[in-house]
Amino acid sequence: MLESFFHLLHFLMLLPFVGYFLVNFAYLLGPQNLKQKYGAKWAVVTGASSGIGKSIARRLAAQGINVVLVALGNSDLEAAVVELTAAFPEREFRVVACNLSDGTGAWMKDVISSTKDIDVQLLFNNAGYIVTGFFHQRSVDVHLANFHCNLTAAVHLTHHFYSLLLEKKLRGAIVFTSSAAAVMPSPFAVGYGTTKAALTEFATSLAVEGRAKGIDVCVFHPSPVNSRFLQGGGTNVEVAKLQMFDAAYKLASSPDDLPDKVFAAIGRPCISVDFGGVAVGMRLMVMTLGGSLLNFGFAVCAPLMPDYRKHS
Ligand SMILES: NC(=O)c1ccc[n+]([C@@H]2O[C@H](COP(=O)([O-])OP(=O)(O)OC[C@H]3O[C@@H](n4cnc5c(N)ncnc54)[C@H](OP(=O)(O)O)[C@@H]3O)[C@@H](O)[C@H]2O)c1
Ligand SMILES: *[C@@H]1O[C@H](CO)[C@@H](O)[C@H](O)[C@H]1NC(C)=O
Ligand SMILES: *[C@@H]1O[C@H](CO)[C@@H](O)[C@H](O)[C@H]1NC(C)=O
Repeated sequence: MLESFFHLLHFLMLLPFVGYFLVNFAYLLGPQNLKQKYGAKWAVVTGASSGIGKSIARRLAAQGINVVLVALGNSDLEAAVVELTAAFPEREFRVVACNLSDGTGAWMKDVISSTKDIDVQLLFNNAGYIVTGFFHQRSVDVHLANFHCNLTAAVHLTHHFYSLLLEKKLRGAIVFTSSAAAVMPSPFAVGYGTTKAALTEFATSLAVEGRAKGIDVCVFHPSPVNSRFLQGGGTNVEVAKLQMFDAAYKLASSPDDLPDKVFAAIGRPCISVDFGGVAVGMRLMVMTLGGSLLNFGFAVCAPLMPDYRKHS
């Protein structure tokens, strides 16, 4: 009797881990061609001027998909268009230069006018940047600009393109770049973890509504990636150096490693997917220790962290 109770307990304790490995790693089933999978001709990528977004745009073009590039209108965006057009002369690229930190979404009119004659079946909500330091050390406007770029903008874009797909009865995919920071407290970058956790919840909820209607929603949590991200991501926001990141970023991978994994995840069981050791390790830590203990332990130990002392 007691023995079978322990067997049951054992099974119940292992179940989340077995489930995690089976579902999260379903992207290892192999690469997917999104043009074939969705019959897609056009994609929209935000933050397409550099890093992960530019790598995604390049891989979409390689699969025969035309891309609308959305980012701040600066020299990076111009350079990205020149680079992509030279590499894929047979593809069409359109550019929408806008500041996604404007929470009113006034910039949506430019997105809409640039896409009204095409069917956008793939949307990559990827633009984002980080604001570091203690929460109180930055004005609320700086935090809110970050919040809107990372979160509000994705809600505006997703609402528009998701509704259009349903109206036109087209298949498609909506993809979100979240972060491993979504699963744990992220001190000295409180807005970052906040918007990333919100993105993940938003995406997984929409995935439930959309799947039966032929729209796949996928949110991915990359491990550290070498991009301009830690230099402020092209914005005029000054990013304080965090020692916490130094260790994690020693293992950083190239943004070019991500698109194949992302494309392989879309429409597969891994609706919310962790890529790489840091993201998988953080998830397992939360699953093993439980959020409550981790949150409290983190808060108690924080004053011992070098970042805490440095920013105080
Ligand atoms: N790098 C990492 O280790 C890491 C880890 C986890 C998650 N992520 C996430 O991955 C995504 C892409 O980051 P990345 O690493 O590829 O960084 P990145 O190279 O700095 O790219 C950021 C992109 O976002 C755009 N952007 C920033 N602020 C904007 C604004 N207000 N309006 C419009 N566009 C704006 C930038 O456009 P401009 O070039 O025109 O400024 C750029 O194209 C972000 O959501 C980030 O949170 C990154
Ligand atoms: C984008 O908009 C935000 C909020 O209005 C502003 O603080 C920021 O300076 C703008 N960024 C650029 C590059 O114009
Ligand atoms: C916005 O997203 C970037 C990149 O994902 C992240 O580094 C930053 O902390 C986020 N900011 C907020 C306020 O969510």
